[in-house]
Amino acid sequence: MTAELIRGTVVAEQIRGELAAETVRLRETRGVVPGLVTILVGEDPASQSYVAAKSRTARELGFHSVQHTLPAATPEAELLDLLARCNADPRLHGILVQLPLPRQIDERRVLEAIRPEKDVDAFHPVNVGKLLLGNPDFLPCTPAGIQELLVRSGTELDGADVVVVGRSNIVGKPLAVMLAQKAPGANATVTLCHTRTRDLAAHTRRADVLIVAAGRPKAITAEMVKPGAVVIDVGVNRIGVTEQGKARLCGDVDFDAVKEVAAKITPVPGGVGPMTITMLMRNTLRAAQRAAG
Ligand code: GUN
Repeated sequence: MTAELIRGTVVAEQIRGELAAETVRLRETRGVVPGLVTILVGEDPASQSYVAAKSRTARELGFHSVQHTLPAATPEAELLDLLARCNADPRLHGILVQLPLPRQIDERRVLEAIRPEKDVDAFHPVNVGKLLLGNPDFLPCTPAGIQELLVRSGTELDGADVVVVGRSNIVGKPLAVMLAQKAPGANATVTLCHTRTRDLAAHTRRADVLIVAAGRPKAITAEMVKPGAVVIDVGVNRIGVTEQGKARLCGDVDFDAVKEVAAKITPVPGGVGPMTITMLMRNTLRAAQRAAG
């Protein structure tokens, strides 16, 4: 048996259609155009490609899209000045600072300098706290995209055993909180595994839904997956270049082997990635709708 593919590209396209219609409605009824500013410090090629995709998608949806690219040696004070201007600019509803930041810049200070109402990444401590308490204004983009993929693919989460591999602040930790929440599209029993987990396979083999954000190519092999499980691969590992000169990507899951065991699986690329960007657009639209009252 070969698993059914959960195609993030297709689901993301569908949601973007919904967002585009809402964007038109907001403009026509309230005269408000959602505005997103992306800020990239330095020249990391992966970050450059992520930021370019975010700005392009914003433009395609009819958003006001502003891009700032700062040199790698930018002093922290200069970035904080730029953030203060973006916080004060009523045309900008969402502010995204691409991570990681260069060494001389304190990531925590930067994330805390973004007004929580414009924090469309949901990385500000106020937004992290609201998420933990179960009344978020914004959901973090990658976890929200994963939840949306699970719900729209008809995966039962209520009472399901979900295992998340990886405890990052961007994916694993917030996702574990979201899926354990007493709410529709959640109510799961969540196990959060990480680099110090004693017997990883013993946990992953029990999972009805296995979500992998480990940052290690092929960390999950077929023997680690329960037959019939739903597998979500968040990994983006660069393993060379294609004939077209683009980065060749692979996930954290041994796709070719695991697809013979799982019931459903996301591909890399074309799985979680397009959903992350789409959720950023949804957060920006929500911020604009809130600003419009
Ligand atoms: N770097 C890796 N993932 C992300 C993300 O979701 N948002 C931002 N701002 N930076 C990232």
